[in-house]
Amino acid sequence: MNNIEKITIKNGETVTIRQVIPEDKELFIKGFKMLSEQTKRFRFMSAKKELADKEAEFYAKPDGKNHLAISAGIETEQKQLGIGVARIVRESEGSDTGEFAIVLVDSYQQMGIGKHLLTRLFKDSLAVGITKVIGTMRVENKGMELLLKKFKGFQFHHAGSGLMEIHGDLEKALL
Ligand SMILES: CC(C)(COP(=O)(O)OP(=O)(O)OC[C@H]1O[C@@H](n2cnc3c(N)ncnc32)[C@H](O)[C@@H]1OP(=O)(O)O)[C@@H](O)C(=O)NCCC(=O)NCCS
Repeated sequence: MNNIEKITIKNGETVTIRQVIPEDKELFIKGFKMLSEQTKRFRFMSAKKELADKEAEFYAKPDGKNHLAISAGIETEQKQLGIGVARIVRESEGSDTGEFAIVLVDSYQQMGIGKHLLTRLFKDSLAVGITKVIGTMRVENKGMELLLKKFKGFQFHHAGSGLMEIHGDLEKALL
């Protein structure tokens, strides 16, 4: 199922969209260092200072069934750069619901990559029986709201403490 897609983004660069593999661990560690404070706050709900080795290892080892992860990268002979990732982790074995999250490094935001990553992630998730997603975002995260509004079947509920709960129906999202 690891179809490798190449897309041309708004600045003319070619971006590779593919499933995450264990060798991506170092790209995650480097990519994390490229995130602004705001992007970290939006992704992790806190100004996370570093990505621990164990976390990077977990992030780089999706099993394709209960944990799916799709990456966006610049992959040329001269350059290997991880620029974004979208993932979903099934709530529990056999559940039809997964928790999802996405992040793009700042310099590659608003270039259409997020929409592409989520479309691919949602398709792959449906193929393994994950039909519903849940997530959390900060209330002021307009970028995420606008991105999710590109898909049908998403609802947002205030959860207090400046956070919103996201609920999505993946069959509707891909209509
Ligand atoms: C939110 C985020 C994932 C969006 O990804 P992206 O690649 O920038 O989004 P896209 O380029 O695919 O944009 C999809 C649509 O939303 C709009 N959009 C996205 N971010 C926007 C922003 N900050 N301001 C205005 N519009 C925005 C785009 O213009 C686009 O609309 P269009 O197709 O009509 O042009 C990305 O900005 C990000 O990584 N943010 C920090 C981490 C985060 O918030 N993660 C989500 C919480 S889990």
